[in-house]
Amino acid sequence: DWTPKAFIETTINELKETIGNEQVILGLSGGVDSSVAAMLLHRAIGSRLHCIFVNNGLLRKNEFNSVLEQYKDLGLNVKGVDASARFLEALKGESDPEGKRKIIGRTFIDVFDDESQMVENAKWLAQGTIYPDRIESVSASGGPSATIKSHHNVGGLPDYMKLKIVEPLQLLFKDEVRRVGRSLGMPSDILGRHPFPGPGLGIRILGDITEEKVTMLQEVDAIFISSLKENGLYDQVWQAGAILLPVNSVGVMGDERTYEQCVALRAVESTDGMTADWVNLPYEFLQKVSNTIINRVKGVNRVVYDISSKPPATIEWE
Ligand code: XMP
Repeated sequence: DWTPKAFIETTINELKETIGNEQVILGLSGGVDSSVAAMLLHRAIGSRLHCIFVNNGLLRKNEFNSVLEQYKDLGLNVKGVDASARFLEALKGESDPEGKRKIIGRTFIDVFDDESQMVENAKWLAQGTIYPDRIESVSASGGPSATIKSHHNVGGLPDYMKLKIVEPLQLLFKDEVRRVGRSLGMPSDILGRHPFPGPGLGIRILGDITEEKVTMLQEVDAIFISSLKENGLYDQVWQAGAILLPVNSVGVMGDERTYEQCVALRAVESTDGMTADWVNLPYEFLQKVSNTIINRVKGVNRVVYDISSKPPATIEWE
């Protein structure tokens, strides 16, 4: 019978044995999986685990600093690397979804590689890969879905890094990972965090990416997410976020005609992201969120709610 306590004990012992006195590098994403993997390794080898948390400039508002603080509070040996400028520069002028994913993935590897070089004598790369990631990446390499989207979480690291791979969560499902995290005493806002794509807001800004667009979308997203939390809806939703559409529409403010941007809100129910239903959020809630966004976020004059399910739509718009 599987229990988190027994899993933790066995895994920590195995990690101690496999890793011995060597140094390990791990990339934290802010998500549940990499965070729980880090905590397990931390328990096993302490500060010989070197965590790297990269700001790609496409995270949610304030996420880089607040998550970094949380990691430090958990006692992790973590280095925050703000590479926003490098990512934005690399993305300049690119508007193709797969093109953006490739640039973000490649830049991440470059930044991560630079940082890993600074960890002396690193022999291991730890990853928060869970069981469903494997299934998906296997089918994505052969199946007809291969070209739909390139998820860069698995197998994306270059050969020249020559590090041995350790994946303590590779046999677990998401709910088991959460139970392990809870049993390790991790805060519920890390464990209950919605999934967030590696390319972040980069694939929620349709078309090319600029710093202004990122800031605008961060503001919209922050209003939506904090409203979900304030209204007790966050935990009832599997994933939520806002999308900045490449559309201007006419509006009116006072006596002035405006011609500004439109944002879409998306909230879905799902168990694994493979299929998803749009969430029937209360009209009063949507009404309030829409008003707040239009009143507070300069440059946005229209909000729409996405009522498409997957399939045939996907969760992300790109
Ligand atoms: P789709 O849009 O394919 O999304 O229905 C399914 C789940 O995967 C996430 N997603 C990604 N995650 N890199 C990631 O790490 C990506 O390129 C990527 N694309 C989509 C999406 O947020 C949803 O949870």
